Amino acid sequence: MSFNNLDMLYRQVIMDHYKNPRNRGVIEDGVTVDLNNPTCGDSLRLQLQVEDNIVKDAKFEGEGCSISLASASMMTQIVKGKTVEEALQLANIFSEMVQGKEYDTDTFDLGDIEALSGVSKFPARIKCATLAWKALEKGVDEDA
Ligand code: FES
Repeated sequence: MSFNNLDMLYRQVIMDHYKNPRNRGVIEDGVTVDLNNPTCGDSLRLQLQVEDNIVKDAKFEGEGCSISLASASMMTQIVKGKTVEEALQLANIFSEMVQGKEYDTDTFDLGDIEALSGVSKFPARIKCATLAWKALEKGVDEDA
């Protein structure tokens, strides 16, 4: 596998989130979603605090590979302060991106999450990358 400069930059962003996860921890009275990746057995717990249709807080815990934990860190970072509809829109964009489909880059500043766009070249890792986002979709649904 060869890396151009963008790949190198993306790799650094992923490793930074993996080594220094944002929003790792527990929300005392949040909605809790436990999901696991059936292909490897790794599990993720996501907790959300949604008030007035806004994702006020999001935290996660769990075991997983660098892709899954970096993705959880990035997801919790970008959805905080978003409305439930915006968070679901972001989940959609992310899903299209990691599947290598055309994705909307205009509606939101995607920031670090685009560092995971290269996952589309490794289909076996797509479930790792989407685990946290699936938990988000479930969590906001449960909160509704
Ligand atoms: Fe288990 Fe990626 S290998 S979540």
